[in-house]
Amino acid sequence: MTRYRFFTATSLDGFLADEHDSLDWLLSQPTGQESILPYDDFIAEVGAIVTGRTTYDWVLEHVAEDDPGNGSPWAYEQPTFLFTHRDATRAAPHVTAVSGVPAEHRAAIEAAADGKDAWIVGGGDLAAEFARAGMLDEVHVSIAPVTLGTGKPLMGGRFDLELRELGRSGAFLEARYEVVGERR
Ligand SMILES: NC(=O)c1ccc[n+]([C@@H]2O[C@H](COP(=O)([O-])OP(=O)(O)OC[C@H]3O[C@@H](n4cnc5c(N)ncnc54)[C@H](OP(=O)(O)O)[C@@H]3O)[C@@H](O)[C@H]2O)c1
Repeated sequence: MTRYRFFTATSLDGFLADEHDSLDWLLSQPTGQESILPYDDFIAEVGAIVTGRTTYDWVLEHVAEDDPGNGSPWAYEQPTFLFTHRDATRAAPHVTAVSGVPAEHRAAIEAAADGKDAWIVGGGDLAAEFARAGMLDEVHVSIAPVTLGTGKPLMGGRFDLELRELGRSGAFLEARYEVVGERR
């Protein structure tokens, strides 16, 4: 069964990026050898990817074109659902532009995932849309020792989560939560 997993990094005060979509504050942190969920183990379980438009554009701009991804500018080889109201820039054949509520795309995402997990890459409002639709099982955050004051929120909404696992990797505090549901 496909699990929907939001695997991301955040500032201590809950931002995915600063107000200019910069990740300098994140990429400058020392990473560790140990992790409760190493990226390679995580990505091996991912069969489909979900991303919002700003995140997609950031990856196109910042991740080298010769990174894995079927020779495409998109850095991931898994079938990808790009939530946007506009045409996809430099879209690879395995990137599908979609819009609307997540539930409309559930069957397609799960068919693409083919029994593996769906990675909600971001942003935080899109992750919240998935959570509201009952399509978010897990939030895995690496928390950087930085506050930003303002920026793009980790998760746009009020939700209850249960802490399942915690750890440390380099400068990061790691936490894995199960999503309980929307907080009324
Ligand atoms: N810290 C990390 O590890 C991490 C992880 C992920 C992302 N990030 C960063 O965090 C920032 C997130 O940016 P963001 O908050 O703007 O979120 P985003 O989800 O990446 O982009 C938001 C845009 O996606 C489109 N969209 C979202 N939901 C949609 C829907 N249901 N239907 C159609 N289109 C939809 C809309 O774009 P249009 O209407 O313009 O098409 C919307 O303005 C980026 O800078 C990204 O690089 C950081």
